[in-house]
Amino acid sequence: MVNQQLAKPFLRWAGGKSRIANFLEEHLPPNFTNGNRYYEPFLGAGSLFFRLNPLKATLSDDNKDLIECYKAVKKRPELIARYLKKHLLNNCEDHYYKMRNKYNCSNPSIARAALFIYLNKTCFNGIWRVNKKGFFNVPYGYIESPALPSKEDLLKLSKALSRAKIIHKDYKHIVKYAEKGDFVYFDPPYPPLNGTSYFTHYTKEGFDKRNHSELASVAKILNKKGCYIMVSNADIPYIRSLYKDIFNLHELEVTRLIRSDGKRYKVQELVITNYEV
Ligand SMILES: C[S@@+](CC[C@H](N)C(=O)[O-])C[C@H]1O[C@@H](n2cnc3c(N)ncnc32)[C@H](O)[C@@H]1O
Repeated sequence: MVNQQLAKPFLRWAGGKSRIANFLEEHLPPNFTNGNRYYEPFLGAGSLFFRLNPLKATLSDDNKDLIECYKAVKKRPELIARYLKKHLLNNCEDHYYKMRNKYNCSNPSIARAALFIYLNKTCFNGIWRVNKKGFFNVPYGYIESPALPSKEDLLKLSKALSRAKIIHKDYKHIVKYAEKGDFVYFDPPYPPLNGTSYFTHYTKEGFDKRNHSELASVAKILNKKGCYIMVSNADIPYIRSLYKDIFNLHELEVTRLIRSDGKRYKVQELVITNYEV
């Protein structure tokens, strides 16, 4: 059930889990409460974090700009609201490209975090894509009335984030920190359905077949430690083969935007758990 009082994800993010948050909620660990420590090491738009509103959380992602934005929303929600108000008033193609240049030439700040949100909400298809130099290069999306978060939304977001540690790191760092009884939700970039190119645009580094195999090994180490693990991934034989020995595989059908042709398709996904549901 969506609680209207809770903060909502404030970014458009490829592979975002808002649409399947109910399914994820139905597959939580037994006896899970928002008092359990929660880890979301592929944070993106943080759909499950905002749905669960845990009291103790560690949120991380290896996209530095994304993490800077979360930290700024946590720290200075009202100032971000003021910047966003100005961007909304000025929004047009010319403003977008000026702001994209400004963004790529500036250092982390509250103003840059507001730019991150503005660009995310007005760029083509909400894609986060950077070139080899790490410069954001997505064209304008011609969105005349972008759904920018309001001051009220940002205050709620800041409150939810005030209970979380927000860290810029590769997902593997959690092996050191997660302990028995903690709940870890892994939502990595998915392998391609057509078996050709891997989707690599969230960060400069990308996430390939070897990374998926390493992630399964990390999940197995945490399983041995006594953590509760949930993994989202594509339902393809390779992913099944990585987890089928000790994990439970739950299937679901999801409509997703496929980047290569910009159309929406029904695809099979897996929610993988190390506990019975
Ligand atoms: C599928 S998205 C997560 C979506 C998120 N669960 C949501 O609901 O919006 C995958 C995320 O993993 C991040 N990522 C990619 N490689 C990573 C790595 N090695 N370590 C940590 N995060 C990584 C990307 O920056 C991206 O934000």
